[in-house]
Amino acid sequence: MAKSKTIISKDFNIGQTDPRLFGSFVEHMGSVVYNGIYEPDHPTADENGFRRDVVELVKDLKLGVIRYPGGNFTSGYNWEDGVGPKASRPTKLDLAWKAIEPNTFGLNEFMQWIEQVGSEAIMTVNLGTRGIDEARNIVEYCNFEGGSYWSDLRKSHGVEKPHNIKIWCLGNELDGEWQIARKTADEYGRLACETAKAMRWVDPTLELVAVGSSARHLPTFPEWDRTVLMHTYEHADYLSLHHYINKMETDTANYLAMSINMERQIKEVIATCDYVQSVKRSKKPMKLSFDEWNLWRKPDIEYKQWEIGYPYDWVRFHMEDALVFGSAMLTLLRNADRVRIGCQSLLVNTIPMILTEKGGQAWRNPTYYPFQHVSRYGRGEVLRIVTDSPKYDSSEFTDVPFIDSVAVFNGEDGEITVFAINRSAEPMQYDLDIRDFEDVAFLEQIVLKHESLSAINTSDHPTNVSPARSDQTSLDRGTATSLLDPYSWNVIRFSVKS
Ligand code: AHR
Repeated sequence: MAKSKTIISKDFNIGQTDPRLFGSFVEHMGSVVYNGIYEPDHPTADENGFRRDVVELVKDLKLGVIRYPGGNFTSGYNWEDGVGPKASRPTKLDLAWKAIEPNTFGLNEFMQWIEQVGSEAIMTVNLGTRGIDEARNIVEYCNFEGGSYWSDLRKSHGVEKPHNIKIWCLGNELDGEWQIARKTADEYGRLACETAKAMRWVDPTLELVAVGSSARHLPTFPEWDRTVLMHTYEHADYLSLHHYINKMETDTANYLAMSINMERQIKEVIATCDYVQSVKRSKKPMKLSFDEWNLWRKPDIEYKQWEIGYPYDWVRFHMEDALVFGSAMLTLLRNADRVRIGCQSLLVNTIPMILTEKGGQAWRNPTYYPFQHVSRYGRGEVLRIVTDSPKYDSSEFTDVPFIDSVAVFNGEDGEITVFAINRSAEPMQYDLDIRDFEDVAFLEQIVLKHESLSAINTSDHPTNVSPARSDQTSLDRGTATSLLDPYSWNVIRFSVKS
């Protein structure tokens, strides 16, 4: 049997994870909001129209942040349409997704919902069709105590206390042809800089995210990022990255390696940020907000335009996708020193972690589990491990390690968790040298049970792909040996001296 080995040392680490790395995204798109998290006629809906079954599934993910309200949607959105008495809110056309937007769910409903799921909001302002004035007004509405037009309007809407939203995205994907009111890098950079100033004059405690390139394959990458940073470096705390790994026609071996492109993108964006830092003689390293990342595969339902809450990119992910998704999460962990915010895109019904049927069930897509495991056990110090693994070549990549692994030390709980993906069609012996830690005891090995790489979860069979304990790890004087099944996701946990 092929063998692989990882050495873990307590003296070498990459950095502490930020709770905001474990985030997701709720956009007014398809059935994410309407017929997803908000469905007043659903049997489980509460008095606000929020589906309780969905709330329970979301809570279990322990999301550090949730980005809202878009996405491309934001670039044509008037947030004022979604506040105040529902009866007087206008029905509008959403040009981003060619949908009808009834505005019965807006800012205050989102803030109510996010409190229920126990997370923190990231708000995006419209720098497409709108600009500085709208942005400063929404900050005043959300964060100013009272005694001004917008803060008093909030109170008149029944929200006495400010929402105190800390993280704000200065627009979304404004480099993209598909975006309403696309801009050049100079146009956007100037606008973002002036908008940031005005927003901070309303609330100096804000943390602001400037729009980086929306994809690595665009011809403007990374020049867009450099230009935007030249305008915004002093005003932004984060630069955004987006990445969707596209299943398309690629074979399994290549698909399983595709998170490598995400890793490259992170390194390239860091290099661009550090270059501008040096030009600016700035002491501040730019943090990264990976505020959209996920996989894409052909949807199971064809989209119908100009409906309310019609499923868009409603996908039942396969076991194979869960492995690639897990690998993307490990990429974020490996870069936790610079990537401080991460938002899986999107939470419900659009390439989602949670699927729902109108009036029916809510259940977990296979990708739900790697996220849940990393969110639960991946908080702490990401360790700088050394892994020796056999390698393979795929159609696009050379020297791909069969084993993709990350170790995280949680000093508070006295635990080390090793996440390991076996990209091979064969089982692999995996040795872990943890002798550097004291009092090591094996806790558990969790895997994802599945019949085949194309296994999916359905409303009738929601647990085809689901976590199970494995008894394939043994520990002898600080060295553990695990058997990793072919094409497997593994979470191997140990207790150690804190
Ligand atoms: O699928 C979500 C969409 O993808 C977001 O609205 C946009 O920002 C990205 O292109």
